[in-house]
Amino acid sequence: MKNILFVASEGVPFIKTGGLADVVGSLPKCIDKRYFDVRVMIPKYTCIKQELKDKMVYKTSFYMDFHWGNEYVGILEAEVDGVKYYFIDNESKFGGDHPYSSNVYDDIERFAFFSKAALSAMPLLDFRPDVIHCHDWQTGLIPVYLKERFQGNDFFHGIKSVMTIHNLKFQGKWDVPAVQDITGLPDYFFTPDKLESYKNANLLKGGLVYADAITTVSDTYAKEIMTEFYGESLDGLMRARENDLRGIVNGIDYTDYNPTTDKYIDYPYTAANYRKEKIKNKRKLQQELGLEENDKIMMIGIVSRLTDQKGFDLIAYIMDELCQDAVQIVVLGTGEERYENMFRHFDWKYNNKVSANIYYSEGLSHKIYAACDAFLMPSLFEPCGLSQLMALRYGTIPIVRETGGLKDTVEPYNEYESTGTGFSFTNYNAHEMLATIRYAEKIYYDKKREWNKMIDRSMAVDFSWEVSANKYQEMYDWLIG
Ligand code: ADP
Ligand code: GLC
Repeated sequence: MKNILFVASEGVPFIKTGGLADVVGSLPKCIDKRYFDVRVMIPKYTCIKQELKDKMVYKTSFYMDFHWGNEYVGILEAEVDGVKYYFIDNESKFGGDHPYSSNVYDDIERFAFFSKAALSAMPLLDFRPDVIHCHDWQTGLIPVYLKERFQGNDFFHGIKSVMTIHNLKFQGKWDVPAVQDITGLPDYFFTPDKLESYKNANLLKGGLVYADAITTVSDTYAKEIMTEFYGESLDGLMRARENDLRGIVNGIDYTDYNPTTDKYIDYPYTAANYRKEKIKNKRKLQQELGLEENDKIMMIGIVSRLTDQKGFDLIAYIMDELCQDAVQIVVLGTGEERYENMFRHFDWKYNNKVSANIYYSEGLSHKIYAACDAFLMPSLFEPCGLSQLMALRYGTIPIVRETGGLKDTVEPYNEYESTGTGFSFTNYNAHEMLATIRYAEKIYYDKKREWNKMIDRSMAVDFSWEVSANKYQEMYDWLIG
């Protein structure tokens, strides 16, 4: 049996702000239990729902030197769907009503604490990982600490680390003296071939330098991050580590996201009866959101963090033009105020066509995936993207920009060969996007049979974890030897 420990800042069902949580919550369930024991470690945030906290059992605690202090570290555990979770507890570090703060320095301090605590807790778990699988910058210090101080200890000797990049844009950067002060790492580590990057200390970079293997969440993104445009100043490092870098496309949880059994939707449907049943979800959502009740009108959904990554500048630019068309637009998301207000404004201006829901709701997200005809995701960059996979699963046709995982998972419609599962465009250009949306409208309104065949194809593609989980297993085998 090979032991794998995922360490991450979020994981479904306990805490989620985006796709990272979906991956951390669903991938471990799909790794072959005959050969691997995969467990997950995340912080015990105060903002985790009480009903989930009630599942946690106290295991042990200790005090740890950190940032000139001596800090409490509690370890709790819980089991969900056959996967064991460990939680690192320290209320002063993981308090507040959100897992992240708006202050980068504070987050660096909290996640440096988490990374050190995670390693320090391991010998107390009755579970010695063969591989520590780290996710994103919050855990970037783990491969560093593992090489620096923990390898000397017998327990840690030979443990391998993997760093998975879910989003290269977030790196955990701050000035060197402050990070040195927090981490207690010696000068040796703060050079441009290690943690230093353009005069700052960079936690993700540390992880990428010291991890034994690096993965990211699609093939195309793995190639893109070796270029200057997508490389976020780390493209040189990505090229240097090309042989240790692989792209493994994400899957989604086919049990949680299943139009036939989804408990959040009012009218479940299958690939055989969606023609009659899916529309009932649209009618219901139009009623609930106060949109014009009209079966015929094309409904376009957006469920997203509202950040510039997701292409909202393009949408802002053509929204007035788009609203002249026979379309409805349903948005669910939170994030940057300028985008929140942009959608509020259009909701006010085109009240019966646009519905802006500026909050977080698992339930409404499922309703949108089920009710809409199309799903818009014109990202500037997209490491993988899960929303388009959810849309495909619900027979909701994605309209995407050809970047990262969007390019790898949505096959563009070809009207001559009658192939494809969605619509896509190449350049980050608002009118190119608008032309693509209008092309989709044309197929939707004028060639309904073609549109429905596309739904058939989209509901038939398989983005469950099976294939990708196998690729992770191969990598673990290769690492452990
Ligand atoms: P990212 O991780 O960059 O945010 P992904 O497409 O990988 O993008 O994953 C986004 C996940 O977050 C999906 O599960 C999506 O349904 C969910 N999501 C985003 N915003 C909201 C929201 N406001 N309410 C509910 N779910 C949301
Ligand atoms: C990140 C990326 C997204 C990806 C998710 C899960 O948040 O932005 O593209 O799907 O991580 O890997």
